[in-house]
Amino acid sequence: MLVDGHGREVNYLRVSVTERCNFRCQYCMPEKPFSWVPKENLLSFEELFLFIKVAIDEGVNKIRLTGGEPLLREDLDTFVKMIHDYKPEIDLALTSNGFLLEETAQRLKDAGLKRLNISLDSLKPAVAAQIAQKNVLGKVMRGIDRALEVGLGVKINMVPLKGINDNEIIDVLEYCHDKGIKVRFIEYMENAHASADIEGMHGKEILSKIKEKYEIRALGREGASPSFNYIIEELGYEFGLIDPHKHDFCESCNRIRLTAEGHLIPCLYFDEALSIAESVKEGDIQGAAEVLAKVLQDKPKENRWSETLHDEDVSSRAFYQTGG
Ligand code: GTP
Ligand code: 5AD
Ligand code: SF4
Repeated sequence: MLVDGHGREVNYLRVSVTERCNFRCQYCMPEKPFSWVPKENLLSFEELFLFIKVAIDEGVNKIRLTGGEPLLREDLDTFVKMIHDYKPEIDLALTSNGFLLEETAQRLKDAGLKRLNISLDSLKPAVAAQIAQKNVLGKVMRGIDRALEVGLGVKINMVPLKGINDNEIIDVLEYCHDKGIKVRFIEYMENAHASADIEGMHGKEILSKIKEKYEIRALGREGASPSFNYIIEELGYEFGLIDPHKHDFCESCNRIRLTAEGHLIPCLYFDEALSIAESVKEGDIQGAAEVLAKVLQDKPKENRWSETLHDEDVSSRAFYQTGG
């Protein structure tokens, strides 16, 4: 079992397989970065897998592949299969923007993927295009349908932004209810890479929009998840709210993040990270396990999104590098 310096059990590893993305979401990567991490600095699937095996052997039982957009990494299904075959019981999931899902869902399912979280910020083509800065909606919606058809578990993530998609919260909720899938509304997390002129919504504001039409009842947090669940009794429908500005979920934080370059990150908010690249390139399992132990020891107690914006210790790392 992996336990951090604050006594929290860590069993969830998020692995970003690429920082590249085919969208330019205003809250994440509004412009193409000045330069991408050079290809030779990216860890190969075999190198990432060596670390993943160490983590699984030590007690990780939930792995989520993220990006950038993970489906841009060639042959991602072979990587999914490597992890699945090593331990089929792993809760193996992917977070994607959904654009390439229509053509990849079946292969991912066959490789052993269990679940997918897909971003859907609007049901209006023009608004979706305004946020992602590309005409994306048709393909994303077909991707969602395909993923459901092949039997993958699906959840939707929506980031409400004032004056952009804040009037679509109920529409997205009802779309998800009709499809029988869960939606989680996410508070926009301020970061230096996002467009300067967007404004997120606080959890309370998101809930009041829903309360304009439905009565809701708080259910509570689902284990160590950052999502707080609510139920709309008249629909028999549960949705989630991810509200990092409250940061009470940090108390039970169970996760660490690995970037495509091999940086092991203990908390999304802070810059601190240690590299496992050298260890895995040398096939040094012991070395990788030592870096993991050190990162766990130094994992911060909680994020500080609730404090002054642009606080000097807010991470300068982009969400597209950490995978959100
Ligand atoms: P489930 O396994 O389905 O619960 O997935 P998840 O919520 O862990 O994954 P997903 O990639 O869909 O993340 C949803 C949102 O939660 C993203 O915006 C993440 O950035 C945010 N999130 C996940 N973990 C953390 C965390 O430790 N801290 C903060 N602040 N946000 C997080
Ligand atoms: N604030 C909140 N959520 C974000 N995501 C990406 N950037 C941000 C941000 N700045 C979300 C995406 C995706 C998930 C992994 O993270 O919408 O669904
Ligand atoms: Fe790409 Fe996801 Fe960032 Fe949007 S939020 S730019 S889809 S990595």
